[in-house]
Amino acid sequence: MKVSFLLYLAALATGVLHAAPRAGDVTAGRAAFAACASCHQVGPAARHGFGPRLNGILGRRAGTEPGFAYSPAMRKSGVVWSEQTLAAYIRRPDDVVPGTIMRFSGWSYGDQKLADLFAYLRTFPPTD
Ligand code: HEC
Repeated sequence: MKVSFLLYLAALATGVLHAAPRAGDVTAGRAAFAACASCHQVGPAARHGFGPRLNGILGRRAGTEPGFAYSPAMRKSGVVWSEQTLAAYIRRPDDVVPGTIMRFSGWSYGDQKLADLFAYLRTFPPTD
């Protein structure tokens, strides 16, 4: 009885450890980016579309890509894009930047999907 309880606890602990997100996977992240690609481009030849290009986005201050007509809300937000702020913005854009013109609801995006997406985005350095 006691032993099986301990085994149960061990299994539980292992399950918990396995549930923690893996490091982001670039290939899975590219697939996840398909949902963003109708409005955003990345890569050396990226241009602004309906949304700004996202090269070097992690670590950058929101609303600062030259040549894109951001909403006043985004320009004045003072947000810096970290994994935390970007995850929250993807899930509920208006909660992070009230009045943003990005219409997207990634509320169902899990931690792993976001980690993959961020790993993919990190492969694109800032545009000069
Ligand atoms: C329907 C079009 C659309 C889709 C789909 C979309 N976005 Fe956006 N996104 C925008 C627009 C428009 C803005 C500018 C928002 C503003 O100025 O308020 C924006 C802004 C952003 C910004 C801020 C950029 C900056 O320079 O500060 C980030 C980061 C971003 N989007 C990431 C994403 C990611 C990641 C996805 C996919 C998970 C995504 N977006 C999907 C339209 C979109």
